[in-house]
Amino acid sequence: MARIHHDGVLVVGAGLAGLTAALAAAPASVLILTDAALNHGCSSAWAQGGVAAALGSDDAPSLHTIDTINAGAGLVVPDIARLLAEEGPDAVRRLAALGAPFDRNAEGGFAQSLEAAHSRARVARVKGDQAGRAIMDAVTVAVLAAAHIQVRTGAKLIGLLQDTTGRIGGVVARIGGKPVEITARAVILATGGIGGLYAVTTTPAELQGDGLGLAALAGAVIADPEFVQFHPTAIDIGRDPAPLATEALRGEGAVLVNRDGSRFMAGYHPDAEMAPRDIVARAIHAEREAGRGAFLDARQAVGTHFPEAFPAVFAACMSGGIDPRVQPIPVAPACHYHMGGIATDADGRSSLPGLYASGECASTGVHGANRLASNSLLEAAVFGARAGRAAALETPVSTSLEPVMTADLPASALQTLRRAMSRDAGVIRSAEGLTRLLDAIGTMDVVHGPSAPLIAARLVAASALARRESRGGHYRSDFKKSGDALRTFVTWDQIEPSSLKLAAE
Ligand code: SIN
Repeated sequence: MARIHHDGVLVVGAGLAGLTAALAAAPASVLILTDAALNHGCSSAWAQGGVAAALGSDDAPSLHTIDTINAGAGLVVPDIARLLAEEGPDAVRRLAALGAPFDRNAEGGFAQSLEAAHSRARVARVKGDQAGRAIMDAVTVAVLAAAHIQVRTGAKLIGLLQDTTGRIGGVVARIGGKPVEITARAVILATGGIGGLYAVTTTPAELQGDGLGLAALAGAVIADPEFVQFHPTAIDIGRDPAPLATEALRGEGAVLVNRDGSRFMAGYHPDAEMAPRDIVARAIHAEREAGRGAFLDARQAVGTHFPEAFPAVFAACMSGGIDPRVQPIPVAPACHYHMGGIATDADGRSSLPGLYASGECASTGVHGANRLASNSLLEAAVFGARAGRAAALETPVSTSLEPVMTADLPASALQTLRRAMSRDAGVIRSAEGLTRLLDAIGTMDVVHGPSAPLIAARLVAASALARRESRGGHYRSDFKKSGDALRTFVTWDQIEPSSLKLAAE
């Protein structure tokens, strides 16, 4: 296999976490590897709401910390939430300084929206629902102008280079159809989430747990993989991925109704449409399962302003033949965010020396069992920068490195997996469904070997089966109550199927 040496930091993934890490690693030399073109194939560019941060005069990081902890249903690590909230305002100002055109109020401060489970209007936004795209455009320009950063597109992560002590010293990427080993002082995985493992997702479908699966295969500790967030209001117009109808619409007063036009959320939670996201998702799931349907009605709250106020949602609705100015929008829950991931400390360090993770593929413990709305871009900006700075201090690897590689999963098997994940590891889970899912994953493992999507799916399913309680985004119909508030920490050898172990021997 061809081998290239990069004397610096490798960043895999070019969403906000990866790009922020790359900028922060200066003056260390950074090579960014991404399969997709810049600004494509990452959830950051699709984020509609914006960046949550205590920027207003009625707000404080301590209040943001409390809301983050409360949303996380007992599993948020308080010190990490505090760090996120305290570093949040400066992170937003840094993005603004890079050119992100945040909406401003009459005094020139940040205009901020209210989203569910926030006690204040604290989401800094761009032209209604354009935050992700506008922020990524600004940061991408900065990355392309940075002398210490090189970007290699068309490079798909397929392996990690590891020595006998577990130290990671590079990656294997498929470039131009051929595997290439690239060694470096440190590797930062910023490969995003697992939306592409679900049949209905609001994220780019190519996000299939590549970094998560590989890190697990190499022996990294994985935290809380069972906690998947389902966004309540994906627009149900039969598209894959499903376009999002941002929660900010409910913040503006849009209401959820069923087919006969009755509001139903008050029957599920006193905060009605502004209840925590997992509760709204389950309510919509229940209404749909009962045949009553679920619709987001923004006719009163937004009405004729829709095209200017929420241009992305408006365009998506119109492309599906729905005019949201005069029609309720059909909605369904969709996989939106993975709270679990590669376990890291506050500086992105995983349990494997030399391996860092940041953004959605990481689990710092900041989101617990349920992420607070619009904390994800903030997490990418705050913890991406911390990971970049820490990784830049790593020294060269002098030991010999061997590849740890994942197998490819054919497209037809992936589609089977996506359907099984949505059915059995979705909004409502049970031992029966999760066992059926693990059996299906096992059957595919035998045929295809340890692919990243199958490893990531097994981490979710096995941990969801082991968690015999309901909490945040994880709801078990056979264990409806919450038990002890304990995080999950798991390694691949604890859940690896015996068939794969035998095949490797
Ligand atoms: C939304 O705009 O509803 C999504 C925001 C988020 O997931 O943080």
